[in-house]
Amino acid sequence: MTEAHSDALVFFGATGDLAYKKIFPALQALMKRGELDIPIIAMGRSSWTLEKLKARVRDSLEHHGGVDEAAFAKLCAQLQYVHGDYQDPETYSRIKQALGDAKHPLHYLAIPPSVFVEVVQGLSKADCAKGARVVVEKPFGRDLASAQALSATLHEVFDEAAIFRIDHYLGKEAVQNLLYFRFANTFLEPVWNRQYIDNVQITMSESFGIQGRGALYDEVGALRDVVQNHLLQVIALLAMDAPVRHDPDSMRTEKLRIFRAMRPLAPENVVRGQFKGYRNEEGVAKNSQVETFAAVCLYIDTLRWAGVPFYLRAGKSLPITATEVVVNLKSPPLAVFDDVGPATSNVFRFRLSPEVVISTGARVKQLGEEMRGEPVELIARRQTKTEQMPYERLLLDAMEGESTLFTRDDSVEAAWRVIDPVLGEVVPVIEYESGSWGPAAAAGILQSDDGWHDPKPEAAAAC
Ligand code: BG6
Repeated sequence: MTEAHSDALVFFGATGDLAYKKIFPALQALMKRGELDIPIIAMGRSSWTLEKLKARVRDSLEHHGGVDEAAFAKLCAQLQYVHGDYQDPETYSRIKQALGDAKHPLHYLAIPPSVFVEVVQGLSKADCAKGARVVVEKPFGRDLASAQALSATLHEVFDEAAIFRIDHYLGKEAVQNLLYFRFANTFLEPVWNRQYIDNVQITMSESFGIQGRGALYDEVGALRDVVQNHLLQVIALLAMDAPVRHDPDSMRTEKLRIFRAMRPLAPENVVRGQFKGYRNEEGVAKNSQVETFAAVCLYIDTLRWAGVPFYLRAGKSLPITATEVVVNLKSPPLAVFDDVGPATSNVFRFRLSPEVVISTGARVKQLGEEMRGEPVELIARRQTKTEQMPYERLLLDAMEGESTLFTRDDSVEAAWRVIDPVLGEVVPVIEYESGSWGPAAAAGILQSDDGWHDPKPEAAAAC
C-alpha cells in the first residue's frame, strides 16, 4: 500500500450525469486551490473528441457554480480523454499509455456497479493497478450478497487500504459538524443517551422527482439510493461513541459498532411510497413497485440507545428540499407548569442541507403574571454557504490516502444486514401525491402522536 500522493487521476464515467453535476465543479475548485497538479484522464464509452469533452466541462460549470476562466484553462490543459468499451483490453492499454510515468494513479469509478468487475480486472491486466488507489461510487452492491461479491472482486486486485468507497454525505460540512459538535462540547454527553433522548427523527426531503434518471433509479429505489448509505451514516455519527484514537480506523471502528448494533428492519417498521406519475417517467417500468419514498423506524441495541426509536424518512417529490435531524428529548419528569407537555419538550436540530444549522429548542416564560411559556430556538450555527463541496473534499482526501471519511467493507456489509430484510416487495408500495409528505401510513410507524417533524424553509423555521 502506498503512502504517496496520487500522481494521476483516471476518471471513469466522465460523460455521465454525476460528472456533469458534481465532479467537474469539484475538479475546477481543486484546480483553483492549486490542489490538482496532476494529469486527469477522463474515460467514457462515447467516442467523443477532447474538444467535445472540454465543451461539456464548460457547460457543466456554467450550470453548476460558474466558470473560473483561469482554473478552467488549467483543467483543460491537464485533461486527456480515453474512450472505449469496458470489456475491451485495448481500452486499458490506452489508459496505461495515457498514464505515462505515473506510479500511483487514483482510479475513480463513477460508473454503475454492474461494470465494476470488468473495469477492475481490466486495470489489473493492463498493469494500471499496481501502486494505485481506487475510489468506488455508491451503491456498493444492491444487497448483502452482491456487496460481499463486489468486495471480493475488489480485494483480488486492491488492498482494503487502497479502496475508497465514497459516500458524499460524509464530505458535507454539516455532517462533519455533527461529530465535532457532539465531541467538542461537554454539555451533550450527559444527556446523549436513552435516559434523556426520547427519539431521533431524520428527514431527507427532495422537492424534485428523478430528474431523467428513470432507468437507473428504477433499479435502485429510496432504500438503496439514500437510506442504506447516507442516512445510516448520519445515524452512525449521531449514535457512535468517541473514537479512542485519532487514526481513521479508530473512527471507522466506532461507526462499525453502531452498524452492527442496528436491528435488521422489520416489515412492520417500514413504509414504502411511490409518487403518482413515477411510472410514466422515461426508463421506469409501467408496473414498477420501486419506492421513491421510504420511512423506517430503527433500533440500536446498545446500552446507550436501547429502546430509543430512530425514525428515518426520505423521498422524492416532497414539499421541500432539505435534510434535517431532530433529536427529541424527553419531557420534564414532572409537570410543574401546565403548558409543558410531550410535544413541547426540548430538541436539538441539525439542518444538514441545503443550509447548515445547529440549534437547541427550549421554552422560556412569556411576559406577564401567568407561568406560561413559549418555544424559542437557540442557534449555535447558521450558514448558507460552505467552503468546500463534498466531492472536492473527498477526492482530495482519496488522492492523499486519507480514509477517515470513506466507508470500510465491514461497515458496508453491516449496513446491508439492516436493510436486506425489507428490500424488494416485502412491504407493499403505496402511491402518494407529488408535493405531499408521502403516504399517510408513514405516521403509523411513529410511537407517539406528535407526528413527523417537517423541515421548513430556513428563514421561517422555528422549533
Ligand atoms: C445521491 C442520490 O446519492 O444523493 C440522489 O443518488 C440524491 O438520489 C442525492 O438526490 C442527494 O444529495 P445532495 O448532496 O444533493 O443532497
